[in-house]
Amino acid sequence: MTADAYKNEDRQADPAHVTTREEAEAVTEFLLKPGLFGTPLTPGETALFRELPLASVGHPHDTCWYFRNGDDRLCAVLGMRHHHNHTGIYEVYAFAVDPSSRYQGFGRRLLTCGLQYIASVQGRGMIVDTSAHPSYAPMHKLLDSLKFALVGRFPDFYYAGEDTLWYYHAVNSGGS
Ligand SMILES: CC(C)(COP(=O)(O)OP(=O)(O)OC[C@H]1O[C@@H](n2cnc3c(N)ncnc32)[C@H](O)[C@@H]1OP(=O)(O)O)[C@@H](O)C(=O)NCCC(=O)NCCS
Repeated sequence: MTADAYKNEDRQADPAHVTTREEAEAVTEFLLKPGLFGTPLTPGETALFRELPLASVGHPHDTCWYFRNGDDRLCAVLGMRHHHNHTGIYEVYAFAVDPSSRYQGFGRRLLTCGLQYIASVQGRGMIVDTSAHPSYAPMHKLLDSLKFALVGRFPDFYYAGEDTLWYYHAVNSGGS
């Protein structure tokens, strides 16, 4: 299956793929909502959330998916891009579920979709950096349950006193 075929295929229970400016702008608005993350965004994260969803529209590698809830409101987002080494590693640059829609399986389905996408384009793996702050415990548990390996810790990476944790999931072209 080609990357475009995978992105555009209409599969029940799969997230929608951002393909228009309107969708990209809705994703950016969602990601910048106060209180979505347990710690303040860095200036660089804010810039990426403004730029990358739109830049992924029509991009050959970078992707962005979202879910809507029962009220048709955007409630969950995964943004992922090909790492700048361009050797098959994909990095998650945005991942969040609206507080009112958490613990309903959206997060797991988004990451699973990302891993399947990487397999479909013969990528090698997914890297996620996430905060070590206790408010990210659901994220750590989700990554553990999806068999991501904790591969590193960088002290004071986001801000003084806030470490980053690096998680990695290898992917092979036969599946995730
Ligand atoms: C982390 C996050 C994306 C999880 O999304 P979600 O849709 O609620 O997760 P799911 O419903 O798919 O849950 C999957 C697994 O995550 C873990 N999990 C999710 N919420 C949890 C909670 N409140 N407490 C403990 N574990 C939790 C569990 O392992 C769960 O599996 P289980 O249902 O078998 O117990 C969501 O909590 C979130 O947006 N948090 C704030 C933003 C954030 O931390 N983003 C990551 C930055 S890199």
